[in-house]
Amino acid sequence: MCGITAYFGEKNGIPIVLEGLKRLEYRGYDSAGIAFLNNNTIEIIKTKGKIQELKSLVSDKNSNIVIGHTRWATHGEPNYINAHPHLSMDKSIAIIHNGIIENHSELKRELKEKYNFKFESDTDSEIIAQLIQYFYQGDFEDAFRKMLTKIEGAFGIVAIHKDHKQMICARKGSPLVLGVNSNEIFIGSDPSPFIEHTKDAIYLNEKQMAIIEKNSYKIKDFNGFNTQSEIETIPFGIESIQKQGFEHFMLKEIYEQAETIQNCFRGKVNHIENISIKINNPNRIILIACGTSYYAALVGKYLIEKTSHIPVIVEQASEFRYRQPMLFTSDLIIALSQSGETADTLEAIKLSKKLGCNIAGIVNVTGSSIAKECNQGIYLHAGPEIGVASTKAFTSQIVALNLLNLFLNKNPYYKLEMIEELKKLPDKVKEFLEHQEILKIAEEFKDSKYFLFLGRDINYPVALEGALKLKEISYNPAEGHPAGEMKHGPIALIDSTTPVIVILTKDNVYEKVISNMHEVKARKGKIICICDEINNEIKELSTHIIQVPKTSWEFSPIINAIPIQLFAYYIAKLNNREIDQPRNLAKAVTVE
Ligand code: G6P
Repeated sequence: MCGITAYFGEKNGIPIVLEGLKRLEYRGYDSAGIAFLNNNTIEIIKTKGKIQELKSLVSDKNSNIVIGHTRWATHGEPNYINAHPHLSMDKSIAIIHNGIIENHSELKRELKEKYNFKFESDTDSEIIAQLIQYFYQGDFEDAFRKMLTKIEGAFGIVAIHKDHKQMICARKGSPLVLGVNSNEIFIGSDPSPFIEHTKDAIYLNEKQMAIIEKNSYKIKDFNGFNTQSEIETIPFGIESIQKQGFEHFMLKEIYEQAETIQNCFRGKVNHIENISIKINNPNRIILIACGTSYYAALVGKYLIEKTSHIPVIVEQASEFRYRQPMLFTSDLIIALSQSGETADTLEAIKLSKKLGCNIAGIVNVTGSSIAKECNQGIYLHAGPEIGVASTKAFTSQIVALNLLNLFLNKNPYYKLEMIEELKKLPDKVKEFLEHQEILKIAEEFKDSKYFLFLGRDINYPVALEGALKLKEISYNPAEGHPAGEMKHGPIALIDSTTPVIVILTKDNVYEKVISNMHEVKARKGKIICICDEINNEIKELSTHIIQVPKTSWEFSPIINAIPIQLFAYYIAKLNNREIDQPRNLAKAVTVE
């Protein structure tokens, strides 16, 4: 979704902001622009294209007060006019905005009809600049604050005024982070735009604003009162947001998984009792998430119900929040989110909190909105995930759900056994990644028109995730189904050209999955079997076999996820897709 970055200091901020925008590309965008102060005028440079194009337009410019934005269109098509920054009618104020101003139509009508304001764009964001102009009487901060009292919705905003050496930003529902250095301040939707300049960051809280001036900054609430702010050290370095020799971030992130799995359990696995979730023997656990995180949550249901015997309900946040869910104060509600910013998940958790439930988060990005809202839970510590298609966060979420399960489980022998198995997992992942030959299989199926993924039980969500990965980055039609459901519809799609990816683990449904493979084979489908042991029957049924290391049932979705990620990656690569930034998708969906 939209990305924000800004610079206020003594250097030329334009190359700094452009580099920052490049770093935000991973969020997904369709246009970009910057605004900067130049001798009491504001200059704006925008493009419908990529940051590279923007760079070529600004090569000779210089300014030490600069704001920059990547836009992911919501209101108004992706074109030059709708790209940010937006100016007020008198061109005195420029703003960038992430989020949605829900009451923009009424406000716009009022300014147009009563005060003759003229609007240029179709965006909801332009109203912000116009309102500041409307309220301005010589005091920029005062006008900005008055604007805040009018707008409804979610926002991260940064604004500059042509007559003030000030930059003002505010946050409600969309993240903003300040990077603090001597003599300079950076702003970002996340710290990636300024990580090589400073690791000291202030994550703005809900309804906080920052007023930045030469050599000083103040953090205030929306009423103008100074509030406390804490400088935190960003827990990763520039290397985490560079490709480091890999062709794509997605491939790098797939290959990082031996390490990220370990980072997730390190420090917790020997002290499960210290997990920071206050629980009071919940009657039910409700896991809420979107996208890939939702599929990880589905794994959690199989896991917790079978081994800890607590009922688990898994909810897609966008459905949950609008259907008056039946909640009890004895429920434990857990939000799963890589970014910690997904709007639907955030709102679902706020709703649960309002209804008196105990809420917790399983989140990757520290200091994110969901992490702050929950205030308890498990961090993944997977480092920044840049590829839009989530990979390492998925496997870490399953590790975190296992940690949660061990925390809830009452059987000490089970806990010990699982901890021992979990510790062996990173080496198994590493071994698999070092020897995999999935590219060769992908070459055979790169032109297939439809892909079917089948799994059962705890590996059914992996089939769903396999289909999602393939759709996201290769744009090929793909579906995931429980293998047992195939007879009720998907089997009609199978013919001798259909690749069917079957996840077959030596567990309680092994024989059932083998029967389903026979059903596919009888329709001449081409089986690509992901399994943890090979025998003659599997050889006869399969066109290709991908053998993964053996692990326990609880961790099998982790090891099985890796080949499906690589399969999607190679199919997309062989089709020359934009793997890290697939069309129409955004990394963090901060709007509904
Ligand atoms: C977007 C991303 C997906 C992600 C989903 C949920 O759709 O493209 O990769 O799974 O949002 O995001 P979250 O950050 O809440 O896990």
